[in-house]
Amino acid sequence: MNVALFGFMGVGKSTVGRVLAERSGLRFVDLDAEIEARAGKGIPSIFEEQGEAAFREIEKIVALEAAASDRQVIACGGGTVLDAESREGLSETSIMILLTAEPDTILERVEVEDETRPLLQVDERIGRIEDLLAARNPHYIKAADIIIDTTGMTPQMVADHIMRLIGGEL
Ligand code: S3P
Repeated sequence: MNVALFGFMGVGKSTVGRVLAERSGLRFVDLDAEIEARAGKGIPSIFEEQGEAAFREIEKIVALEAAASDRQVIACGGGTVLDAESREGLSETSIMILLTAEPDTILERVEVEDETRPLLQVDERIGRIEDLLAARNPHYIKAADIIIDTTGMTPQMVADHIMRLIGGEL
């Protein structure tokens, strides 16, 4: 069994994932890092040089590859589960955990790593976050076995909470 952490940019998927992997003894896999390794360049360069559609193709390949392995904590990218094939593949082998946060919290967290997210390189970031969230939330919720609101929680608190909920199954 895997644990897949998914949800919007800035909800803490990678940070929580690392802590959770340590606590559970599962291997940590970060899909954004897998995409970068496969493409041989950073995410902003993939978007710039090859376009978003090419990025999504690579994202699907690494998602399905991860889904085919076992005993991992998989940190998805914010868009990974919006693809039906990736969502279904991951759901078959993973407990699907949706992490959420309020738009203000998301904005604070993504501003720390300013230029790493092509979709948020706009002037009106909070508006962009709200629009994307509104479009994505129904898909996120549909994919979730468990939903955790991380607002006001540290990554350690979120990982502990997950361990209490599903530690026995891992
Ligand atoms: C994206 C989220 C990013 C990364 C890419 C696209 C999205 O991952 O995959 O910039 O569509 O929400 P994080 O959620 O890890 O920032």
